[in-house]
Amino acid sequence: MLVLGIESSCDETGVALYDTERGLLAHHLHTQMAMHAEYGGVVPELASRDHIRRVVPLTQGCLKEAGVGYADIDAVAFTQGPGLGGALLAGSGFANALAFAIGKPVIPIHHLEGHLLSPLLADDKPEFPFVALLVSGGHTQFMAVRGIGDYTLLGESVDDAAGEAFDKTAKLLGLPYPGGAKLSELAKLGTPDAFTFPRPMLHSHDLQMSFSGLKTAVLTAVEKVRAETGSDEIPEQTRNDICRAFQDAVVDVLAAKAKKALLDTGFRTLVVAGGVGANWKLRDEFSRLTVKMPSEKGKPKPQEEKINVYFPPMAYCTDNGAMIAFAGAMRLAERQAVGAFNVKPRWPLSDIVKQG
Ligand code: KG4
Ligand code: ZN
Repeated sequence: MLVLGIESSCDETGVALYDTERGLLAHHLHTQMAMHAEYGGVVPELASRDHIRRVVPLTQGCLKEAGVGYADIDAVAFTQGPGLGGALLAGSGFANALAFAIGKPVIPIHHLEGHLLSPLLADDKPEFPFVALLVSGGHTQFMAVRGIGDYTLLGESVDDAAGEAFDKTAKLLGLPYPGGAKLSELAKLGTPDAFTFPRPMLHSHDLQMSFSGLKTAVLTAVEKVRAETGSDEIPEQTRNDICRAFQDAVVDVLAAKAKKALLDTGFRTLVVAGGVGANWKLRDEFSRLTVKMPSEKGKPKPQEEKINVYFPPMAYCTDNGAMIAFAGAMRLAERQAVGAFNVKPRWPLSDIVKQG
C-alpha cells in the first residue's frame, strides 16, 4: 500500500511517499525559515499561503522521484493538528481534494504521533516498548510507547516547551530566528560552567518539567553583564558561555527526567523525537545514559545498565512529511476516513492516548 503524507502544521511543507512493502520512496521538504526570518517568528498568514504554493510541486517531485503516478496512491495521510489553523487547512484542503479526485481515503494524523514514530523510519530502529521523549518547539513530553497507538503520557512541561525556551533565549541574546539551532552552535564555543543556571523541577519526583524560568535566569545574567560592561553589546565569548550554560541546564533536566521515566516504566529503550533531538549536547549526553533498576528480592544486586537510545535520522527530527506518511501507513487499517477536512489546531495527544 502506497501512502502519500502531507505535513503543513507550521513553517515546513513536507510531502512523502511511504510504501508498506518497500519503505520510504521519496520525501521532499520546503522550509519557510528564510521567509519568516525578517519578522523574527512565524507569520501564520504567510505560512498558510506558502503551504498552498508549495504543496503541489513538492507532491509532483515525490511522485517523479518514486516513479509512480497519482493513481498508484492508496491513501493520503495529512497532519490534522495540532498546529496553526490556516497552515493545517492548506494541507488538509490539498489532501482531501486529492483523495477525493483519486477516489482514495484520507488518514488524519496527529502531528506528535508522527514525531513519536519517526525513529522507526531508521534502518536501525527501536523495538517496542520504549520511552519516547518528544522534544520540539511546541511540546516536551515523556510517553510510554508499547505499540502503534498504545501511548501513555508520563509527564510534560508545565510551561514553555524546551524548543520554545531555546528560541526565546536565543532571541533575547540577539540571535536571528529561528534561534534554537544557532544557540546550540554557539554553545559549542562556550566554556562549560562559566555561568550556572538553575535546573528547574529537577527534584520534583515526577516527570513534569518547567523551562520558562530559565529564560528569566538568562535575562538576569545578560542584564548583569550589560551593567558591568556599560554596553548593550554582550561580548562574544560571554554570549557563547551563556549559550553553553543554558543548553547544559536544559539537557541536564531532560537527562535526569529520562532516567526517571526509564526507572518508572522499567523499559530499557529510549527514543528521542522532535526538533530539539538535533541538539548535539542532548545526543551526546543521552547516548551515554545508564540506569540502575531497583533491586528485587532474591535477585543479584542491579548494576548500572546501558540504555539503548535511538534518535531519528536528522532529516526526520524536525517537521517533515515522511513521519506523516509513515504514521499514515501504520494507521492504514484503523483510521481511514472518507473526507476529514476539519483540522484541530489545539489537539492534545491525550485525546488519542491512554493517560498514565
Ligand atoms: O519538531 P520541530 O521541527 O517543530 C515543532 O515544534 O513541532 O522543532 C522545532 C524546534 C525549535 O524550537 C528549534 O529551535 C528546535 O526545535 N531546535 C533545536 C535545535 N534544532 C532545532 N533546539 C536545540 N538545539 C538544536 N540543534
Ligand atoms: Zn513538529
